[in-house]
Amino acid sequence: RRRVAILISGRGSNMTALIEAAKAKDYPAEIVLVISNIAGAGGLAKASDAGIETATVESKPFGKDREAFERKLHDVLVAHNIELVCLAGFMRLLTPWFVKQWEGRMLNIHPALLPSYRGLHTHERALADGVKIHGATVHFVVPEMDSGPIVMQGAVAVHDDDTPDALAVRVLGVEHRIYPDALRLVASGGTRLENGFCKTGNAGPDTALI
Ligand code: GAR
Repeated sequence: RRRVAILISGRGSNMTALIEAAKAKDYPAEIVLVISNIAGAGGLAKASDAGIETATVESKPFGKDREAFERKLHDVLVAHNIELVCLAGFMRLLTPWFVKQWEGRMLNIHPALLPSYRGLHTHERALADGVKIHGATVHFVVPEMDSGPIVMQGAVAVHDDDTPDALAVRVLGVEHRIYPDALRLVASGGTRLENGFCKTGNAGPDTALI
């Protein structure tokens, strides 16, 4: 089983979904560490309750020196023999240096159907555009924000009377389904990077949840 660390900044509901999934005997990854860059983030207590080791590496004291923060983060990951990193509501931009250390070994979940709606306030922007389909994406992390080869996506229908909050709830439900499946795929070696794209092969599971 591959050793996985989850990086969070907040409540950690995607983290919890990954922890739950990894309890299955045949799951190819184990969650061995949860790190928050925010002291007291809600997800830390949830991880501890689930019996998972936690660490806080605060980003704030480092100010604009992102790489100094990341060197500390990287040291903690290496000290725990981490093989795969999952960003789950981790609200820090990562430098090319850090991304390079974890190239092909770091996943992120984003609350939109990339490449649409990179960045923040995805649900508000989707509603403002009047799109009829919205969703979530798990992708490998590359230096450009919310880019990188897509591992899995899930979609929801947008309702005429949707609010950003209502839409967020339905998208979050999708996130909790695709992130565990995407990590399973990556940890088992079931998906591979080919010319900058994720290829899962004919025998693999569906990587689109509709
Ligand atoms: C999730 O919706 C996740 O997709 C989003 O933050 C939320 C975290 O919730 N991530 C981003 O916006 C990354 N730019 P969670 O802490 O309950 O998993």
